[in-house]
Amino acid sequence: MRAAAVFPDKKALAVVRDFPAPEMKSPTSVSLRVLNVGVCGTDREIASFQYGFPPPAGSEFLVMGHECLGEIVEVGPEVKDLKPGDLAIPMVRRPCDHPECVACRAGRQDFCYTGDYRERGIKQMHGFLTELIVDEARYMNPVPPTIRDVAVLVEPLTIAEKGLIQALEIQKRLPWGGTHQAVVLGAGPVGLLGAMALRHAGFSVTVYSRSREPDESADIAKAIGAKYISSQDRSVEQMAATVGNIDVVYEATGASHLAFDVLSVLGTNGLFILTGVPGHHPPAPIDTDGIMRNLVLKNQCVLGTVNAGKDAFQNAVADLTSFHAAWPDAVRNLITGRFPLEKFAEPIQNQAGIKNIVEIGK
Ligand code: BGC
Ligand code: ZN
Repeated sequence: MRAAAVFPDKKALAVVRDFPAPEMKSPTSVSLRVLNVGVCGTDREIASFQYGFPPPAGSEFLVMGHECLGEIVEVGPEVKDLKPGDLAIPMVRRPCDHPECVACRAGRQDFCYTGDYRERGIKQMHGFLTELIVDEARYMNPVPPTIRDVAVLVEPLTIAEKGLIQALEIQKRLPWGGTHQAVVLGAGPVGLLGAMALRHAGFSVTVYSRSREPDESADIAKAIGAKYISSQDRSVEQMAATVGNIDVVYEATGASHLAFDVLSVLGTNGLFILTGVPGHHPPAPIDTDGIMRNLVLKNQCVLGTVNAGKDAFQNAVADLTSFHAAWPDAVRNLITGRFPLEKFAEPIQNQAGIKNIVEIGK
């Protein structure tokens, strides 16, 4: 069968035509027909050889793709709650093998201590940009057929959901429940899905991003009741002045200089959530005294978050279903490009639009 792969040694992307179809490995396995796979910045970094790991042992390539919607075609005899025909989103990360890693042993490999976790389509395990996949049922997250068209957005939404679970936990430190002014940095898919999650959780949201209007991402932000501010029109200080006390910043750009500029305007009792993975640039000066003074004197908290657990996947499925009901056009308009498997390299090599997906099955 076909699989879309990156060949790190040859620095090439290509469709492999004779990739062996996977076999059911255990009585708790499921097999899925891949329907859609989303492309994101992580894929772009892997394909530009900036971020990446050796392919799975014995292979000269890595099958790409980690944002997947599939349809179950077969379940092992011990699988109880999934059946052929169900739609499901597979999780990305698999636990490390170290007995002492309490996070992985607790099924929370998204908090792995050792760094020896593996990630499908990213780190040492083939991904989902292929026709058929097999995996353990416990990594599957069922989705209702009503959101089939947009369900490929579940995995990128889990980033925001994991952030939000932690944010709500941390802000329990404020006995009155905190206040609810959020700023989202970046209007890509992770930013806009984060803005939706924050709106849905009752926050007033300002999306701060580069592009000037008219802009398709700005239109989506406004359609969900968020404000949109272009960083070309207003400085970080001006943006902050229009928001008031910033309670939560949700960063989704990977631009560290912007993040640290905005950290300097985080409000009293505020929480700054970082999700972007910056590239490697030379060190740049920042106002360490000012930042530390604010962190202490304003009770601020900075949180980095990566990957997601089962709870975040479940919240993402439930929330995407709600977003789809509340803002059907805004959610659909997040997906701006659809490509066949043969052309998978196009959206990876040329960033355009908001979310591009590869359509493999219907
Ligand atoms: C994926 C995460 C993954 C991270 C780091 C992101 O694009 O959504 O699942 O943990 O990259 O590899
Ligand atoms: Zn991704």
